[in-house]
Amino acid sequence: MSRAPATVPADLADLPDIDDKPRAVEAMFDRIAPRYDALNRLLTFRMDVGWRRSAVRALALPDSSRVLDLACGTGDLCRTLIRAGHHPVGVDFSAGMLRAARTAAPLVRADAVRLPFARATFDGITCGFALRNFAALAPVLAECSRVLRPGGRVALLDVAEPVSPLVRPVHGAWFRHVVPFVGGLVSDRAAYRYLPASTAYLPPLPEMLALVVAGGIVDVSRRTLGFGAAQLITGTRAR
Ligand SMILES: C[S@@+](CC[C@H](N)C(=O)[O-])C[C@H]1O[C@@H](n2cnc3c(N)ncnc32)[C@H](O)[C@@H]1O
Repeated sequence: MSRAPATVPADLADLPDIDDKPRAVEAMFDRIAPRYDALNRLLTFRMDVGWRRSAVRALALPDSSRVLDLACGTGDLCRTLIRAGHHPVGVDFSAGMLRAARTAAPLVRADAVRLPFARATFDGITCGFALRNFAALAPVLAECSRVLRPGGRVALLDVAEPVSPLVRPVHGAWFRHVVPFVGGLVSDRAAYRYLPASTAYLPPLPEMLALVVAGGIVDVSRRTLGFGAAQLITGTRAR
């Protein structure tokens, strides 16, 4: 995942050089934080709310579980986790996103590749729409395994490209034209060009699942949501 795959016809010009990616991504989320939640709701017709609920349900953890919400942004998943009866901790490296967060969960500013938690601290980990924003997936997944207790659960949510020939062109037009246009009007055009284009950072599915398994996660499964516009990968930390 160190570079955009050449086969993906995304607007690669909208993606930062890989060496600049962490700083560029952090600065971008700092900029868009104030309107991030409102645009998510608008641009997904509120489907993102249901996708986060699905991710929390898919953890299948008992009440009062300790859950790390990795790359928590403004805390949407933390709120969903609290409503489900869990005790989340949110981590993100964007100070702007953390400042804009509306959640009762404790929030920690840290990089996903260097989590300030001891081994086996958490019963579960959620991660919403951040996989494609990391500079590399393998070190993040290794950190997840380290801070997750054996038998703990992960739920990784991100965007996807629908495969249905009916949905794919509509989604493509929406994602590559409407999202940057509306995002540009309401927030920051460059950021809302990057967000769809960054799908190119996601490795092909078999490679992605292999990375999760190599990170020490077993019983891995993946399903799509929202007519294929989102995907949810779940699994269990090997014992
Ligand atoms: C698209 S937002 C998702 C926010 C939130 N999870 C949600 O569901 O709306 C991606 C988040 O990942 C964070 N992020 C990206 N790379 C990160 C890293 N290496 N460490 C910590 N946070 C990171 C960004 O700051 C941003 O808040």
